[in-house]
Amino acid sequence: MRIILIGYGVIGQSLTKILLRRSPETVKDYGLNPKIVAIVDRGGAVINSKGLNLEKMLALKTSKGTVAADREFGHPQMSPLAVIESVEGEVMVEATPTNVKNGEPGLSHIKTAFKTGKHVVTTNKGPLALALPALTELADYNKVYLRFSGTVGGGTPVLEFAKKCLSGDKIVAIHGILNGTTNYILTEMDEKHVPFKQALESAQKLGYAETDPSMDIDGIDPACKVVIMANWIMNKKFTLKDVNVQGIRGVTPQALEKASKKGNTIKLIGSIDDSPKVAPTEIAKHDPLCVSGVLNAVTFVSEFAGEETIIGRGAGGMETASAVLRDLLDIRHNLATKLLT
Ligand SMILES: NC(=O)c1ccc[n+]([C@@H]2O[C@H](COP(=O)([O-])OP(=O)(O)OC[C@H]3O[C@@H](n4cnc5c(N)ncnc54)[C@H](OP(=O)(O)O)[C@@H]3O)[C@@H](O)[C@H]2O)c1
Repeated sequence: MRIILIGYGVIGQSLTKILLRRSPETVKDYGLNPKIVAIVDRGGAVINSKGLNLEKMLALKTSKGTVAADREFGHPQMSPLAVIESVEGEVMVEATPTNVKNGEPGLSHIKTAFKTGKHVVTTNKGPLALALPALTELADYNKVYLRFSGTVGGGTPVLEFAKKCLSGDKIVAIHGILNGTTNYILTEMDEKHVPFKQALESAQKLGYAETDPSMDIDGIDPACKVVIMANWIMNKKFTLKDVNVQGIRGVTPQALEKASKKGNTIKLIGSIDDSPKVAPTEIAKHDPLCVSGVLNAVTFVSEFAGEETIIGRGAGGMETASAVLRDLLDIRHNLATKLLT
């Protein structure tokens, strides 16, 4: 499997680290022999149709800041679109920054990959939140796969759990803590009785929150995940504009204390039942969904199996890259099965 990797930050580099460690087993156990033939960052591209030396790529990125600095195979300033169009490969992995205004540059990368017959694995939520129904159609039209397990739950297999383990049952509602940063802030406020601003500063100090934390605290990041789950698991045709979103800026220590007296707490819950929404919500402290710190948790309410909750770390480089590898294996499995039938 020849892979074109667009974006070589935390996720892209973690993927190359995992492939270095796991490739002998993926070949032996699953028949997957992944070969990265191109990597693109903001400095340009590095391309080798025989497969890049991943140890060298990691060292080069650290020492020179861009993989395009490779003397033999580097192409400074070469654009991602030119690489996707001109380099032969089976899969494009998209790991550029999330943009929920217009989905770019990821949206164009994904569309171009489809048009050139490449399967796509993305960790970038932006294009999916804005255009998942259209992208699914485009993938079908071009007879390629679109996979995105790393966009919800990091390495925790939230999407697969619902789609594969609960297949046959009907999922009627989903409720989840889908963002580790806001969960850390609310946990701090509840346990240490500190105001929102102080808890946010603590999250920033620990590297859990960005300098501009609005994607998390205004609920946009969990809303993107609500869209992805609604489409993938419940066959709804939602995009981000359909989600009613409220963040956590208005949650006070007083409200948390009041909830606590009833044995409850306040969590930022993304839910899909009648309509998709994200809002601070009072839940019982003994509810399995009520996880603390940066953990994520999702409860699926299904017609026959009842309520099932999956809990895990919702982000992280190696965690999310492990989801990318899972998607690559899934694509490999589907292609192999198709060949047999
Ligand atoms: N980190 C996580 O835990 C996590 C978890 C789940 C999902 N995600 C999602 O995965 C994606 C990647 O996250 P990350 O943490 O790896 O981000 P990151 O560390 O900021 O890396 C982004 C990469 O994209 C490259 N890039 C930016 N603009 C580009 C452009 N126009 N053309 C080509 N390359 C471009 C950057 O190039 P330079 O290296 O030259 O700057 C960098 O290599 C994001 O959408 C994020 O939301 C991340």
